[in-house]
Amino acid sequence: MKIAIIGGGYVGLVSAACFAEFGVEVMVAETDPVRLDRLRAGVMPIYEPGLEELVAANRAAGRLGFTGALDAAIAGAQAVFIAVGTPSRRGGGHADLTYVFAAAEQVLTSLDHPAVLVTKSTVPVGTGRKLAQLAAALRPDLAVEVASNPEFLREGSAIGDFMRPDRVVVGAETEHARSVLRALYRPLNLIETPILMTGLETAELIKYAANAFLAMKVTFINEMADLCEAVGADVHDVARGMGFDGRIGRKFLHPGPGFGGSCFPKDTLALARIAQDARAPSRLTETVVAVNEARKAGLGRRIIDAAGTELRGRRVAVLGLAFKQGTDDMRDSPAIPAIEALAEAGAHIVAYDPAAMEAAKPLLPASVRYAASAPEAIKGAELLVVMTEWNEFRALAPARLAAAMRGRIIVDLRNIFDPAAMRSAGFVYHGVGRGHAPRKIAPQKIELDREVEHG
Ligand code: UDX
Repeated sequence: MKIAIIGGGYVGLVSAACFAEFGVEVMVAETDPVRLDRLRAGVMPIYEPGLEELVAANRAAGRLGFTGALDAAIAGAQAVFIAVGTPSRRGGGHADLTYVFAAAEQVLTSLDHPAVLVTKSTVPVGTGRKLAQLAAALRPDLAVEVASNPEFLREGSAIGDFMRPDRVVVGAETEHARSVLRALYRPLNLIETPILMTGLETAELIKYAANAFLAMKVTFINEMADLCEAVGADVHDVARGMGFDGRIGRKFLHPGPGFGGSCFPKDTLALARIAQDARAPSRLTETVVAVNEARKAGLGRRIIDAAGTELRGRRVAVLGLAFKQGTDDMRDSPAIPAIEALAEAGAHIVAYDPAAMEAAKPLLPASVRYAASAPEAIKGAELLVVMTEWNEFRALAPARLAAAMRGRIIVDLRNIFDPAAMRSAGFVYHGVGRGHAPRKIAPQKIELDREVEHG
């Protein structure tokens, strides 16, 4: 079997390498010449554990290739996957489909044989239908079928998520399209992965609904964490106590600085928009967007309150910049508004992240300094802020921190440290939702973001 993937970005590249590993012959079309050259030289444009090795092994086996020529990529392909970007459109939150439709048009005009056109990018409900109309209009001579096959990949574990998914979702309306997709995922039958066959709109909505639900779970536990601080409860036990209930589940109940990344912020906003446009508004999704934005905007205040003192001229160590551990992705990272607020308050910030420093530099205030290691960042710091839960930070022993730092305040926004151990090493330790916070949290009035408000 032969397939083409349009777009050698995160989703395209991971899908291509994994389909090739399944034994499929995969050609990736990438229009950016710099990215294409790098891919051909074996250099990955993203940091994803295991990807480089998987790409190299499948190229060596002759099952995976990269090209700048779209017609060469789609020659003889039974399925063509569109995996180009869908950024948020400025001033609205709708997904920008320019790249998706441009890629589809190009594919449709170049095709010389029937094929299934599959969307892998997260696209608004109704996009598959529009693509089917476009196919019928541009190529009445060819049987081009459209399918939706959303991905559920997490950065940092994308390959495992692709090779051992909880489920595969396929939206398709002909038996032929369904059978092509079924054949592609055949190796997953061995591990009994459910393959859910639905209509186009349903498959498109499943992706948004799943992401919005997970974002809601995170946002809910974040609110419970604030409540725990107000009433002197421990959010970890609350989460455990909730999570043992199989209907709730234990995952995605870890409180933190608010969700970020390339998917949740963009997809929750897009779902709110889709629902508004369909005149079936999702108030819960709108509120999740607003509450999460407010949480991230309030991080600076939270840290300054915890410090209990003016930060002007004080050295603040920030450990972690990426939106979560295991990635160099800074998109919508809570570290950005937090550091902006600390810089605004006059703090001298020394930051360290094992992977995201290069990506972070253009996004953070020019006054931020970058350390080569965690120990270098904390040296002489008066306040330590943990923004990202990298494992290497968990290993920092309280005594070592105490010896290196000048001050004794820790704001651990990921709850990676043991509060009792930190307190016995002499620190004033502030986690998230772990007993009384010695500060008063000003109740946040939730103003719905203008972008999701009803007009
Ligand atoms: C997410 C979805 O999990 C994935 O299925 C989808 O395809 C893309 O979006 P990703 O953005 O890589 O994946 O990260 P994920 O691990 O899901 O975390 C998302 C955000 O929620 C991060 O900011 C993370 O720090 C936060 N989070 C997650 C929490 O704060 N607490 C949790 O318990 C879980």
